[in-house]
Amino acid sequence: MVKPSVFVTRRWPAAVEARLAEDYDVVLNTGDKPLAAPELRDALKTYDAVLPTVTDKLGAEALDVPQARARILANYGVGYSHIDEGCARDLGLTVTNTPDVLSECTADIAMTLMLMAARRASEGERELRNGQWSGWRPTHLIGTKVSGKTLGIIGFGRIGQEMAKRAHHGFGMKILVQNRSAVDPKVLAQFNATQVDSVDVLLPQCDFVSLHCPGGPANRHLINGRRLDLMKQDAFLINTARGEVVDEHALAQALWFDVIAGAGLDVYDGEPRINPDLAGCDNLVMLPHLGSATREAREAMGFRVLDNLDDFFAGRTPRDRVI
Ligand code: DGY
Repeated sequence: MVKPSVFVTRRWPAAVEARLAEDYDVVLNTGDKPLAAPELRDALKTYDAVLPTVTDKLGAEALDVPQARARILANYGVGYSHIDEGCARDLGLTVTNTPDVLSECTADIAMTLMLMAARRASEGERELRNGQWSGWRPTHLIGTKVSGKTLGIIGFGRIGQEMAKRAHHGFGMKILVQNRSAVDPKVLAQFNATQVDSVDVLLPQCDFVSLHCPGGPANRHLINGRRLDLMKQDAFLINTARGEVVDEHALAQALWFDVIAGAGLDVYDGEPRINPDLAGCDNLVMLPHLGSATREAREAMGFRVLDNLDDFFAGRTPRDRVI
């Protein structure tokens, strides 16, 4: 039987690439460089499946392929706001993602950022590495206590719930939730959480706000200057969702002028480019999109793509079909 041909846009963990090669006729982007629209169009014309990820901008330009051979975009990653839904539908493409398997690790990184920002960990490390530490003193790098504070979670899907689990059961935090749809009271009860009606209602009540909603046009600049003004002056904003959810210029202003106490970011609008306004903020912790960056999660994401491909080419609806 002829194996379906698949194109993988970035290098994946070796164990997954090996399994993929057993069942499919695989072509890898061995240079592991992000692909431009013409290269993505070529891939869509040439292979039965394209396996993209967050660094592939599959907008109108890349998806302008009326004669596409590919019938599935099996995305490596849970977020798929880099894929234009309307264009993918017009081409009749099936799109899948990789939920569940990265939820714990992404929540771990959100916790990491929350703790680092509150306890000024990056500032401390910079001071130490620069040879500027003059020793312990009662007033040195005073941060903010995390335990027992109020955490607002915007977007209460799998990752938001993992965040609530850590914050409530590990750090005794009070949890407030904002979510598009009503959350099952049994789920809220697991974290003694309360759902509020809107982002505007949530923000003024929280010491920490963590974003776990999808990206894309609907949530672009959900956190803007007006909403940053609604936060407490001693509160912190954490974003492990998507860069476009936060207006970065407004965030830099808020950090610079002490509208809020600090922030932690793992994702950026237009990453890997970093808005220079952000780079100058001392009360900002920045990580390079590490949410799912563990061996366990990255392998599990790859195997989940394989499950989706296997279903698709066996004529079944893939378990993680999103389009
Ligand atoms: C995702 O899966 O959407 C992540 O952002 C990639 O780690």
